[in-house]
Amino acid sequence: MESTLNLPKLYDTAKDFMPLNGTDYLELYVGNSKQAAHFYMSAFGFQSYAYAGLETGLRDRESYVVVQDKIKLILTSPLKSGTDIGKHIDKHGDGVKVIALWVDDATAAYHNAMDRGAKSYMEPITESDEDGKVVRSGIYTYGETVHVFVERKDYNGDFLPNYRKWETPYFNPTSVGLKYVDHMVGNVELGKMNHWVSFYEDVMGFANILSFDDNDISTEYTALMSKVMSNGNGRIKFPINEPAEGKKKSQIDEYLEFYEDAGVQHIAVATDDIISTVKELRSRGIEFLRVPDTYYDVVTDRVGEIDEDIAPLRELGILVDRDDEGYLLQIFTKPIEPRPTMFFEIIQRKGAQSFGKGNFKALFEAIEREQELRGTL
Ligand code: FE2
Repeated sequence: MESTLNLPKLYDTAKDFMPLNGTDYLELYVGNSKQAAHFYMSAFGFQSYAYAGLETGLRDRESYVVVQDKIKLILTSPLKSGTDIGKHIDKHGDGVKVIALWVDDATAAYHNAMDRGAKSYMEPITESDEDGKVVRSGIYTYGETVHVFVERKDYNGDFLPNYRKWETPYFNPTSVGLKYVDHMVGNVELGKMNHWVSFYEDVMGFANILSFDDNDISTEYTALMSKVMSNGNGRIKFPINEPAEGKKKSQIDEYLEFYEDAGVQHIAVATDDIISTVKELRSRGIEFLRVPDTYYDVVTDRVGEIDEDIAPLRELGILVDRDDEGYLLQIFTKPIEPRPTMFFEIIQRKGAQSFGKGNFKALFEAIEREQELRGTL
């Protein structure tokens, strides 16, 4: 229930044993990093930022980094067969491999997590170039997804050592107004949600700030359960979903079947002006889920007065929800890869700190219509 909202400001950050400054970058393993970079630039409004590959001395992979305000995406593909990256793509399709977290001390973060039961992905390593040094370390979370801790206080370069600046002087698409990662959602297997809730509590020092059960999130056919985990300063929020029993296959089951594992379901990115952001994304070819038009006939009854006109929200398919602290506007893209797995959420918060519970039913019915078309409901 929304009434269980227990924001992290209510707890003592002095006791936070895993201080995190924010999301550092997200690394996606993709089939064609060069084309993916072009997609994120032309369709999503990112700009070219950094590059690593054959020209920088790598032999097995190529990475393009794109940036939009505080959001940095690394898009990585293998340069030969038989690599871990290639195996990851073969099994999961394109998807998020690394959720990198910005810390002051990547060595301490790693040992702290390991002492508390984490599984190691990467022991602390120091990389340096003429701009200074960066320490990184990493641990596993759900599925094959990992958290990499990034310590960059002794680094003055743009991105990371061993990357070179990547400039595209003849191709500079304008930003669509995306600002930062608001939250990232993980889908985990049936019965595993509480396991990963405990992982984030015990290993990472997060708190469970909100819970939804299958009474909150269900339609005639499908159901899911979700718990939202937040770090001490509230900058990192990870809702964790698991499927619940329904008459037909849950969207979480569909994800798990096609990703062939637990993994990142959606990346929610914040904007200060969702109407212009969505207009721009739509004109560049991004496809969004749509709720029935009748949603807008009753939206003001449900959420009360809002600053925006309803007409452009209806036209674009933007959803609205309210909680005790304000309201939020949100919209979800269709999956952005061939498999029905990862997608993006665009969100604008106007006081509300919750996740749009009032939209779940309409939204999941929209997803079910897509599942029906895919034959996976
Ligand atoms: Fe979300």
